[in-house]
Amino acid sequence: MGLEKSIQGFQQKALEELERVSSLGELEGWRVRHLGRKSPLTRALRSLASLPLEERRAAGAAANQAKAALESHFHRRAQELKEAQFRASLEKGSLDITLPGRPVVTGRLHPTTRILREICSIFQAMGFQVVEGPEVEWDYYNFEALNIPADHPARDMWATFWVDYTDERGRHPMLLRTHTSPNQIRVMEQTRPPVRVIVPGKCYRYEATDATHESMFYQVEGLAVDKGITLANLKGTLYEFARRLFGEDRQARFRCDYFPFVEPGMEMAIDCLVCRGQGCRLCGGSGWIEILGAGMVHPDVLRRVDYDPDIYSGFAFGLGVERIPMLRYGIDDIRLFYSNDLRFLRQF
Ligand code: PHE
Repeated sequence: MGLEKSIQGFQQKALEELERVSSLGELEGWRVRHLGRKSPLTRALRSLASLPLEERRAAGAAANQAKAALESHFHRRAQELKEAQFRASLEKGSLDITLPGRPVVTGRLHPTTRILREICSIFQAMGFQVVEGPEVEWDYYNFEALNIPADHPARDMWATFWVDYTDERGRHPMLLRTHTSPNQIRVMEQTRPPVRVIVPGKCYRYEATDATHESMFYQVEGLAVDKGITLANLKGTLYEFARRLFGEDRQARFRCDYFPFVEPGMEMAIDCLVCRGQGCRLCGGSGWIEILGAGMVHPDVLRRVDYDPDIYSGFAFGLGVERIPMLRYGIDDIRLFYSNDLRFLRQF
């Protein structure tokens, strides 16, 4: 009977002490003292084995009951203390639950990202695949393979940032790509017709910047090569693109232009969104705004990538990306796009 009595004693003492515990820290101390490994109750439980059967039964039941009681009172007290602590902090004013929450500032997509996604999804719907290429490019892909050898006067069309690369074998002409057209070669080198790709990406030109020129800007290149591709396919695709991007009533105009890697070459313009073709400041009075260069892939370009020009033909185009949001939102300076002024960017 001795152990049973003393267990009841521990329990009573512990419960009295529990009511005097006044903080969560003290409560933890109490738990260690009365429920921990070295507590009298745990020790009593351990010593049960050495008791005679009758006494063991009674003491065992008392110990289990004491343990359950201490545990449940412990949880109750913890809850009470937590609530008390919360109430005290409210009274101290450290937490004002009537205060409105701090707004979480949400980011938004850059206008260029938006328009790129829109352009890509229009061409993807027409069966074009989106691929990418390097921004630091070999002279070979940017010029040479596109029918623009080293001394060709057409190089003047692209003021170039050179970043030549030198090793033990000498100097290798490298540059920041001046257009996305090198990817025509890269794609055709790696695949056989039919080819239908668009290539969005950054381009660089070593030019003084002004309202319509930036040293970095985006283009989207397009390329389709197969048996029997004609100029009609080029015009049809680009008309349809212009209608999907700018609206059903959009007019488009094609005029001859020169690029060494296409024959014939042309530019496409759409009727000015501002004056609807009447002539205004934005379109320089002409009523038309040029948005891309295009043409039929030059037979020499096809030969270079081992496509037989007697069997295959193709069209290519290069679209100036920033132009489009400039037209759409009446942005009159391309430099706004990449100068990271949040007052500008937040408008989109
Ligand atoms: N790459 C040319 C440029 O940047 C545009 C172009 C692309 C023209 C494809 C014809 C065909 O000026």
